[in-house]
Amino acid sequence: MNPILKTLQADITTLDVDAIVNAANSSLLGGGGVDGAIHRAAGKELLAECRLLNGCRTGEAKITCGYNLKARHIIHTVGPVWNGGKNGESEKLRSCYANSLRIAAEQQLASIAFPCISTGVYRFPPDQAAQIAVEAVREFISKPTCLKQIIFCCFAAEDQQRYETLIQGQELHS
Ligand code: APR
Repeated sequence: MNPILKTLQADITTLDVDAIVNAANSSLLGGGGVDGAIHRAAGKELLAECRLLNGCRTGEAKITCGYNLKARHIIHTVGPVWNGGKNGESEKLRSCYANSLRIAAEQQLASIAFPCISTGVYRFPPDQAAQIAVEAVREFISKPTCLKQIIFCCFAAEDQQRYETLIQGQELHS
């Protein structure tokens, strides 16, 4: 059965899913944006577990418990900083989605929610980022998977609209 792809406009820390994905930095020790929101909502035990992970390279992902979140797990991934697009940023962003989904499948999770990785502080152009995200998810679900629901959780309505357009298989008006 193919997983359901969904978009939501919500605070990702409120979602009752098996895992939410954190747009972290390589230290995994918290920061601003969605990283800061997740650490605040999960509580200080999250930082204690993250300290044991020894950081994370760009494009890679590591899983922790969700602690005070409704989500059972957090998959921390480090997106690329946009630097003009000629430094492998697209491939690294694709890897964030592919590695997060790989870890979710390894853990036999059924539901996962992604924020718009790299499109805030890391300044990745949102249209390109959304296309990379949807392509990476479609590539993953082209093979059998235990995942039942994949959510693109957007903070802003325009981000949700962008993902909705892509999921319906339409082109973004650039
Ligand atoms: N729920 C869902 N999405 C959120 C939330 C939230 N609570 N808070 C922010 N966002 C959205 C932003 O609006 C943006 O669309 O998450 C997206 C990613 O933005 P950032 O959090 O700035 O992440 P990123 O661009 O990947 O930069 C990562 O920022 O916070 C630091 O420690 C983090 O150094 C790392 C860098």
